[in-house]
Amino acid sequence: MTTIEKNSVASGCPFSMGETPLSQMSLTDPLIQARPHAFYSKLRNEDPVHYDEKLGMWLVSRYDDIVTLLRDPQTFSDKQGYEAQYASGFFQEFKQILEEQGGGFFPDVIKSDPPEHTRIRKLMDGAFSAHRVKMLEPVITRIIADLAENMADKGAGGKVIDGVKEFAIPLTIAVICEQLGMNRYDGNKISEWSAAITAQIGRMQNREQMVENALKVCELQKFIIEQMKDRQAQPKEDMISDLVHSHTEDGSSLTFGEAVSLVRALIIAGNDTTATAIANLLFILATQPGVAQQLHDNVDDERYLTRFVEELLRYAPPVRGLAKMTTRETELGGTKLPKGAHMLVLYGSGNDDESHFDCPRNFDIARGNTGTHVAFGVGIHRCIGASLARMEIRVAAKELIKRVRNIRLAIPAEEVIYQRTVATHSISSLPITLEQR
Ligand code: HEM
Repeated sequence: MTTIEKNSVASGCPFSMGETPLSQMSLTDPLIQARPHAFYSKLRNEDPVHYDEKLGMWLVSRYDDIVTLLRDPQTFSDKQGYEAQYASGFFQEFKQILEEQGGGFFPDVIKSDPPEHTRIRKLMDGAFSAHRVKMLEPVITRIIADLAENMADKGAGGKVIDGVKEFAIPLTIAVICEQLGMNRYDGNKISEWSAAITAQIGRMQNREQMVENALKVCELQKFIIEQMKDRQAQPKEDMISDLVHSHTEDGSSLTFGEAVSLVRALIIAGNDTTATAIANLLFILATQPGVAQQLHDNVDDERYLTRFVEELLRYAPPVRGLAKMTTRETELGGTKLPKGAHMLVLYGSGNDDESHFDCPRNFDIARGNTGTHVAFGVGIHRCIGASLARMEIRVAAKELIKRVRNIRLAIPAEEVIYQRTVATHSISSLPITLEQR
């Protein structure tokens, strides 16, 4: 019996190792993607740095190995890992479509290594200042309060509604438009564009889908370029203006192409991730009524809400796995790795590691080390939007629980459908019922 197994059994946690050997399992399997916890647990116990043949990547599953890897960006390159993942198999064709029809191919400059990354992060700081996040809070509160009320109206009389479509997605899109200062927006378009970009790192698209997605990315880029030209002519109080006009004390500034890639990154990076976090919030309130009651009882206690948000991110991290690549021969968690090893960092498994978090499948806001979760990553690439995302989730939890009660799943939990991707663990649709308070 391994240490982890012993600990788990001793502390009375539910624990399942599964019967199938690891060699016959893969993260490309849609069933594993949807319900990954037993697979993660098996990885951590049997082969913590495991080569997934079908995916062609090394899966890093233990908390300690994840933190070690993320703290060593020289050995584990973000840039090389991302590029090898991007539009995998179709990269040249993807690039050509963007050059011919999308105003240009603008590499993702934030997905880089030091010293380039250090320069870009500094130039992004202004867009994520405490001032910018604070300024957004009252508007975001209004947006969320309206959406919660709308959802309660639509659900009147026990009608089944889709929490992802009616709440998580419109909330996230409205906030992105607010943060980027886009007032005439088409929410469906932004969702579509965002999905077309995230498909490039999800590893699940065929060539036909790649072309279809590339054309959507072309539309998105043309839209961004138009918005940026607007701000160049007339700066506004928004993040696009922050980026277009950003400069450091030593006089460094972003090129137009770099700024296009960063505005695109902000539209995408905060979209699926935050929508997933909000859908996870609904899922937990719907399946754990005790948690919903406790949240309601403490709705005016800001310290409670902060802990609630952190435990939500630990328990159900939206980002499942992002890529890195070894720049030299090395060793991680006792496994020797060649130069050029394509790694997938499983943040989802790190947050579920019973050697770091006691009974990780319990939603427990009283745990002492919730704040050490890796849902936003660790080290130089740690999520730059973390304080904005935390604020959105906190406001969503508060405004929602003040207005609705008895949120329940309208289908069995095992039938909830998840997106097909290795990059996030995202609910596709969440049929629920609820009542207005
Ligand atoms: C709950 C919501 C979110 C989650 C779970 C999340 C998670 C993450 C993770 C895991 C990383 C990568 C860390 C690494 O490479 O190891 C990341 C990076 C990043 N995130 Fe977020 N994120 C969220 C929301 C946002 C928002 C709202 C924005 C912006 C509007 C944003 C912008 C970014 C950017 C630009 C990076 C790249 C940072 C870098 O490489 O230096 N994220 N995020």
